[in-house]
Formats: sequence, C-alpha cells, structure tokens
Amino acid sequence: MLPYNTVMTLFVLLWMLLSFTSTGIKLDGNGYVDVIIAISSRVPQDDMLIDKIKEMVTEGSYYLYDALDEKVYFKEATILVPPQWNSKDFFKARTESFEKAHIKIDNANSANNTEPYTKQYGECGAEGEYIHFTPEYLLNDTFIQLYGSRGRVFVHEWAHLRWGVYDEYSKEKPFYFSNGRIEATRCSKNIEGQFYEVTAGGSLQPCRIDPQTSLPYDGCTFFPDRNQITNSSIMFLPSLDPVTAFCRENEHNSQAQNMQNKKCSNKATWTVIFEDSVDKDALRSLKPLESPPPPPSFKVVQRAQRVVCLVLDVSGSMEGARILQQQQAATHFLRYIIEDQASVGIVTFSTSASTLRSLTIIDSDITRETLVQLLPKRASGSTNMCLGLSQGFQVLQEDNGDVLGDEIIFLTDGQATDNIDGCAPSAIQSGAIISTLAFSDSAAQALTEMADKTGGTFIYASDELTSNQLMDAFASLTLSTVGTRTSDWFNGTVSVDQTVGNKTSFVIIYEIRFPSIYIQSPSGSIYTQTNMSHDGLLKTVTLNIPGTAEPGDWKYSIQTTSNQAFTITVTSQAAHEDVPPIIVKTHMNQQFNDGTKPMTVFAEVSQNYRPVINAEVWATLESETGSVHTLQLLDNGAGADAFQGDGIYSRYFTKLVDGRSSLKVRVKNQDVQTRFAAPKKSGAPYVPGYVVNGVVQLNPPKPPVSEELLEVGNFTRTATGESFKVKLSGTTPPNFPPNRITDLSAEIQEDTVLLSWTAPGEDLDQGTAKSYEIRWSFDLDMLRNSFSNGHVVNTAAVSPHEAGSVEQHSFNLSFPIQNGTTLFFAVQSEDEQNAKSETSNIAQASKILHGPKPPGVSNPGMNLTVLVISLLHV
Ligand SMILES: *[C@@H]1O[C@H](CO)[C@@H](O)[C@H](O)[C@H]1NC(C)=O
Ligand SMILES: *[C@@H]1O[C@H](CO)[C@@H](O)[C@H](O)[C@H]1NC(C)=O
Ligand SMILES: *[C@@H]1O[C@H](CO)[C@@H](O)[C@H](O)[C@H]1NC(C)=O
Ligand SMILES: *[C@@H]1O[C@H](CO)[C@@H](O)[C@H](O)[C@H]1NC(C)=O
Ligand SMILES: *[C@@H]1O[C@H](CO)[C@@H](O)[C@H](O)[C@H]1NC(C)=O
Ligand SMILES: *[C@@H]1O[C@H](CO)[C@@H](O)[C@H](O)[C@H]1NC(C)=O
Ligand SMILES: *[C@@H]1O[C@H](CO)[C@@H](O)[C@H](O)[C@H]1NC(C)=O
Ligand SMILES: *[C@@H]1O[C@H](CO)[C@@H](O)[C@H](O)[C@H]1NC(C)=O
Ligand SMILES: *[C@@H]1O[C@H](CO)[C@@H](O)[C@H](O)[C@H]1NC(C)=O
Ligand SMILES: *[C@@H]1O[C@H](CO)[C@@H](O)[C@H](O)[C@H]1NC(C)=O
Repeated sequence: MLPYNTVMTLFVLLWMLLSFTSTGIKLDGNGYVDVIIAISSRVPQDDMLIDKIKEMVTEGSYYLYDALDEKVYFKEATILVPPQWNSKDFFKARTESFEKAHIKIDNANSANNTEPYTKQYGECGAEGEYIHFTPEYLLNDTFIQLYGSRGRVFVHEWAHLRWGVYDEYSKEKPFYFSNGRIEATRCSKNIEGQFYEVTAGGSLQPCRIDPQTSLPYDGCTFFPDRNQITNSSIMFLPSLDPVTAFCRENEHNSQAQNMQNKKCSNKATWTVIFEDSVDKDALRSLKPLESPPPPPSFKVVQRAQRVVCLVLDVSGSMEGARILQQQQAATHFLRYIIEDQASVGIVTFSTSASTLRSLTIIDSDITRETLVQLLPKRASGSTNMCLGLSQGFQVLQEDNGDVLGDEIIFLTDGQATDNIDGCAPSAIQSGAIISTLAFSDSAAQALTEMADKTGGTFIYASDELTSNQLMDAFASLTLSTVGTRTSDWFNGTVSVDQTVGNKTSFVIIYEIRFPSIYIQSPSGSIYTQTNMSHDGLLKTVTLNIPGTAEPGDWKYSIQTTSNQAFTITVTSQAAHEDVPPIIVKTHMNQQFNDGTKPMTVFAEVSQNYRPVINAEVWATLESETGSVHTLQLLDNGAGADAFQGDGIYSRYFTKLVDGRSSLKVRVKNQDVQTRFAAPKKSGAPYVPGYVVNGVVQLNPPKPPVSEELLEVGNFTRTATGESFKVKLSGTTPPNFPPNRITDLSAEIQEDTVLLSWTAPGEDLDQGTAKSYEIRWSFDLDMLRNSFSNGHVVNTAAVSPHEAGSVEQHSFNLSFPIQNGTTLFFAVQSEDEQNAKSETSNIAQASKILHGPKPPGVSNPGMNLTVLVISLLHV
C-alpha cells in the first residue's frame, strides 16, 4: 500500500523546493563555464548591478589565472535577473534558478550584514553551498577600501566555494602564543606588522596584555606592513597588491589557529586545492595557457511566469491505490500550491499519450477546480514514457513555441516499456526543467539523470512509507506532516510561529472511513467537521484557516473506529511581506554511494540567511526495503558537523542499505531561548588598516551589524530531501572507524595538561569508541606527519564516553615544563574492530608562568607596542 500523503507532499516539494545542491559549474579546458550568478527577486531593478557583476568576474578571472599558475580562468558566466526587471536585452532562462545558483545576489540578512561570505559546511576540500553578495557591496565603492577589489574578493570566495579551503585569518583567535612570542594569526608567517588598539575616537593605543593568557586583550588589531608583504595567501589577505597566490607548504603557517589549519589538518591551501578539491585531477593535468585568457563572456537571462506540465502515468500498474494518491497529490498541487498567473497543462500516458488539458492560466479558484476535475481516475495499458514526455513538450510549446525554462513534473510508478534512454538526451537538451516523482525503485535511471542535468528534482516514494513527508519553501511551508495507522485516537500539536500563518491549511487523508476530527486553536476555538470540507472520492478532509492563523500551539485530535491509516499535513505561508519565514533545507552529501564511504545528512535551519540554533532536528532515512533509520542531527561542531552554532545540523549515516532511500527531517525548537545566531562566516576579511612606511593608516570602520533578535515562539517544520541511492560492493556496509576528532583543545596549568574534545563513536559519530591514543610533541609537523612517533600519554584510565559527550582529561608530564614552552597534542580513537580514526586536529598550549607584575595591568605607562613587537621578533 502506498503512503497516504507522501505523494501529495512530494508534489509540493517538487514544486517549491529546489534546494538540493548540484554544482553545475564545470571546467571546459582551462575555463570555468556554467557559472550562474542569480539576483534575488527581492532586489529592485538596477542595471548598474549587472555591470558591477561583470567587472567583478572579469577582474577575478585574471587574478585567478595568476593565482593558479596560469591554468584556469572564468570563461562563461550567466547572470539570472528577477522576473520583474524590465529590458528587451534579457534572454530567456533555461534551467537556471535562484535556488540552485551557487552565487547569489540578495539583500543583507536581518542583521544588515553586507560582508561577502560563502556558506560552506562540508569536509575540507568539499564544495561549498553558495556565495552571498549583497547589492550594497557590489554598488558601493567604499567596500573596495575595506575588503579589497571585488575581483580579488570574488576569488577568495570562489576558493571557499569550489575547493573547500578555509580562512587563514581568525576573528576568534587573532593572536596565539608560540614559544615565547605573540604571533598574529596569518599566512605566511613572513608578513610583518604592528599591533594597536583603535580607540572609539579613532586614535591608536598600545595593546594591553591579558596576564592570564599572555595574549593581547580583545580589540587589539594586527596591522600588516604593506612594504613587507611577501608570499601571503589569498585566504588571508587578498586585498593587498602583492598578494597573488595561495600559501604553499613551504610558506604555510601550520601553527596559526585558523579554520584552514583546524579543518584541513594543518595543510596549506595550495595543497588542498591540488590534492583534495573537485578540480584536483584537472589542475594537475592542465597545461598553463600560453597567453592571458580572453575576458569572460556573459549572458543575462530571466525567467518568465512559470509554465508547467503534469505528465501522469496511467498505465495498468497505477490502477488502485496509486492512481488515487496521484489524484490526491495533484489535487493539492492545483488547489494550494501552484501560484496565480502560472500556466498549467496536463498530459497522461500509458500505451498512448493524450493531452487532458492544454496550457491554462491559473486565474481563479474556478480554473483550479476545472483542472482538478480532469485528473485521471483509471489506469490501464503499458508505460510509454517517451510518448508522455513528447506530449508534455508539445503542451509546453503552446504559449510561445519553445520550452525554455518550462517545467515538467513526471509522475510514474515503474519501468518504461519503451526505450527511455533513446529520448532522454533530447529532453535534457531541450532547456526545460524535468522533475520526477517515482513510486518504485525500478524507475528508469534515465529519469534520475534527466532531473540531475536539467536542474530538476528526483524523488522516490517508498511503498512502505506510511508516515509523512515534509517540505519547505518560501511561498508555502510544511509545518508538520504525520501519519499513522490506528483504530483509536490520534492526537498531536503543530506550532504556528510568528513568521508564518497565512493560507494555513490542515489536510487529512484517510484510508477507509471518514474519521472524526477536532482542531483547536491556541486560544481555544474548536473546529469540527462543520468547519471543514470533505471530498469522499478523494478521501480528503480540509480545514482552511481564514486570514492569518493565530500563532501558538494548535492541537488536533482524530478519532477512528475502524483500523485505518491516515495522515495530516499542515502547510502555511509567510505572515509578513518583510519577514521571511524560518525555512529548513535538507540533503545528503551525495546522491549515490558505493558503500566505501559513509554518507552525511545535512539540514540547514535558517531565517533570512541567519542560522537558527538550539533546534531539535531529527532525520528519517527510509529505504525501499522498508528499513528505517532515525538520527538526531547535531550542530555541535563535532563528527560530521563542521561548525558549532551555524544552524547546519549534521550527522553521519553509516547503516547503508542497498537501493534507493528517501530523506526527511523534522525540526522543532527545543526551548524558549533565542534561536538566532550571528552567521558564522567564511569570507573576505575586513582590513582595518595597514602600516605604510612605518605609520599605521586606518581604514574607515566597517558598517555596523545590528543583532536584532526576532522572537518567534514555538515552531515546527518538516522538509524532504532528494532521494539517494546506495550500491554496496559487498553484502553489508564496511566497518567505519570512529570519526576524526576536530575540536581537540589543550591548556597547561603548572605541570598539568588539560585536554578536551567531543567524543567520537564506535562507528563515526554513533555509539561509543573503544579507546583513545593521545600523543604529544614539541614539534607540530612531526606530530602531524607521524603521529605514532609522538610521545605517548598513558590513557589506561580513560574510557571513552558516548559519541557527542564532552571528554575532559588531565595528565601530568613526567618532567617540569619550562616557562614559555609550546606543546602540541593529538588524539586517535579506536573501535572494537581495532579500526583507527584519522588523527585529530592538533591542539597547542603554552606554559605561561605569571611574573609578579603582569606588565599590561600594573604598569599602564609602558610602551606595549614595543613590547609586543619585540616579542614577535625575538
Ligand atoms: C537595515 O538597513 C535598513 C536600510 O538601510 C534599515 O531600514 C533597517 O532599519 C536596518 N535594520 C537593522 C536591523 O538595523
Ligand atoms: C615566495 O614565493 C616564491 C615563489 O613561490 C619562492 O620562490 C620564495 O622562496 C618564497 N619566499 C618565501 C620567503 O617563502
Ligand atoms: C486525544 O484527545 C481527545 C480529545 O481531545 C481525548 O479525549 C483523548 O483521550 C486523547 N487521546 C489520547 C490517546 O491522547
Ligand atoms: C465552525 O462552524 C460553526 C457552524 O458554522 C460555527 O458556529 C463556528 O463558529 C465555527 N468554528 C470556528 C472556530 O470558526
Ligand atoms: C497575511 O495576511 C494578512 C491578513 O490576515 C495580510 O495583511 C498580509 O499582507 C498577508 N501577508 C502576506 C505576506 O501576504
Ligand atoms: C511551547 O512548547 C512547549 C512544549 O514544547 C509548551 O510547554 C509551551 O507552552 C509552548 N509555548 C507556547 C507559547 O505555546
Ligand atoms: C557606502 O557605504 C558607506 C559605509 O557603509 C556608507 O557610509 C555610505 O553612505 C555608502 N554610500 C552610499 C552611496 O550608499
Ligand atoms: C599532577 O600533579 C599534581 C601536583 O603536581 C597533582 O596534584 C595532581 O593530582 C597530578 N595529576 C594527575 C592527573 O596525576
Ligand atoms: C614567563 O614567560 C612570560 C612570557 O614569555 C613572561 O611574561 C613571564 O614573566 C615569565 N614568567 C616567569 C616567572 O619567568
Ligand atoms: C612606542 O615605541 C615606538 C618605537 O620605539 C615609538 O615610535 C612610539 O612613539 C612609542 N609610543 C609611545 C606611546 O611611547
């Protein structure tokens, strides 16, 4: 039996959610092509913005070419402008969309932060999600002074996005202490400069030193000396003229306490780009260009009003439960999801194909109902998919003779009886976006490929799935969808938060007999059958809340006397024009896995580009064979999760099962605490100023960022990700070792060393590991390159805690540590099968004995600038 509202919610999903990340960017010879830069529909028309984007990419292309040994450049870029912009010069968009673009131009987040940044949360070397530039940043030349030229900043962000390298500066740890010297966090270490605190009045003051850490207090700033910059890295300071490269191993500062070292095992950025990135093979085999590259070519495109054709399978195997579900799903889509003024056509296929409705503009509820009445109710015959596709294309052409940017939603339950591989290539070339919803795993591979290559989505609906599917989108969000089988009460709660409430609907689909339904608003009003509409043929009951639904917890109670399955789906839309709702996007790190590597589940919870933290996030992964795994996703910066508190919740998925699986996540807030964090950013550094000929020249301060909090109350969301497929080489997944520890930190007090980290598990971040091996050295590179040669710490008394717990262990070294000494530490973990994890990040700590008079505090008249610089240069 098919999942009751799976198909319906997937329909919604296909329409609204194009969140899955697939990088369309490619290298064509030495040139990057299919670079899509999309401007959000929230941005008012400004043709200057298009010129500024072109200037940025053109300048960036030459800079990129110089930075990577004259091997690569930007060859072709497409700028997607919003539908409401007017010009005769825009071409029609093909499959480009804002949601899938990797370079987004959009307004600043609610904190008005205009800084460029890249959202990245994969492993070191993995591609990032997107770069966000604000229109203010691109239009206001003041920012060039603060961040460097836009072309250079673009290449800095590009390196985050494309090659998964990280920043070599650090706002959190701008200084570190190393063998008796204070060092600025930088790459390379050859960069010199001066330290000052900038007062509120804009004058310079010597930095004061915190006696506890022997490091400067917050507010102390390193000003690089413009005349002394050699071999710096684009990931540290792209703004300075002499900086034209990425740090290589010989000049890399592996001790600097920055993200690059932490995430990338202290490797140089150059090494990661050439050895770990998606372009590693190309970069190693490409020959440098003989002459400078041509400037990039640009195309400016625009999407028109949406044009969509539903292509529905009515072959024999659809008869019965499936055709009913297809009807329920398509009905929901036509009634609630498709926006006004869009054009919709309906095609069916089995032994032959036919058009049930040619393109129709959605202009009223009457039109919607007319389309609903046409939906097929019977099925028979064979499955000629190519006939269905080509009929769909004919319908899409009716409006203007082409299918560019138009969409096909293809719904089928099985294997093609015709040669789908024969018609797929031309469908892919057509310029239309093709999404597929497949009821069974036997769906042709060509359908996945079509979705992948046209910017569409492929969703597999497992026959076993009796629960729910959830989705999110700007226009229509799923707050909750739950399903069950019972012969008694089914009660639950849905939280409507302040960001949503308009067009709220409760849709209940039942299997056999109309149940009794009570829905109670937060203030206690009761809705019963008399307030709902019932469609007996569709076995669907609907409650539409007029106006804006009251925020708070809505309770529903459903009572049935016969044992039956039903589902309840609650969707809503934004309540305020200017407050984007909280949204959830989820995806696996790969769509296909051969079982040799674990997979990672990601869910991003955000509101207008701001991370929503402290939420409770559960993922359900369900395979076609019916095995279900539920995982709590965490935002703890350990295991699969790259950063703590960035609103990205992650977990490894190790229980790989052959075949296709579906992915959904359910999110609710855990407590009433504030849930919005300042975005954690990978991005171009603001440059406070430089030393020029020995004198500090200050830049203007950076634009203020306001941390305005939004109290939203309780919220619930559900989202569905694209399906993924596993083909194990053996019969069971391999044994995975404990995950690499990435948050090891160390402290030395007297002669005692205190280490802390987040516990890994028996299998990556699940279960409990068997043991730890801790080693230390005076030499970072030695520990990094040959862990087993480090000095061993006796860990006999240490037994690992469950994955995710905080581990804190202290031990004494067998000798007195001298004042000023820096030591390095690393940990490996082992599981029951004696599989060892990768070596952790390398933590460092210095022993600092406090003199009787800490200089910065007891002797304020002292010239600390001189002290600090002499510390730096001894
Ligand atoms: C952000 O900037 C806009 C326009 O510059 C201003 O109207 C708004 O109040 C600012 N918001 C915050 C939270 O500072
Ligand atoms: C700077 O880079 C150049 C070229 O890669 C190299 O020859 C030189 O040794 C580097 N200088 C330092 C101080 O690392
Ligand atoms: C569900 O709610 C109804 C009415 O609100 C109540 O009578 C019933 O006991 C509840 N059942 C369960 C299992 O909570
Ligand atoms: C439900 O319908 C009844 C009868 O039309 C009406 O009296 C009642 O106010 C409605 N309930 C709500 C909460 O609107
Ligand atoms: C939501 O509905 C209210 C009326 O209840 C309306 O004033 C408001 O503009 C609507 N918001 C959006 C984003 O359409
Ligand atoms: C929020 O949810 C909690 C339980 O999860 C509940 O106790 C509380 O009353 C809810 N708050 C509101 C304002 O509805
Ligand atoms: C450009 O940005 C600076 C710094 O934020 C601001 O002071 C200035 O008013 C902006 N200029 C324009 C034209 O918006
Ligand atoms: C380390 O040595 C100190 C005294 O030097 C002692 O108090 C402490 O218990 C020792 N810690 C361990 C873990 O052996
Ligand atoms: C230890 O070293 C720090 C920094 O090098 C210095 O400030 C401090 O005075 C030294 N303490 C002793 C007791 O020598
Ligand atoms: C600190 O020392 C530097 C270098 O000797 C000197 O140029 C500067 O004037 C001194 N500043 C103060 C405030 O004494």
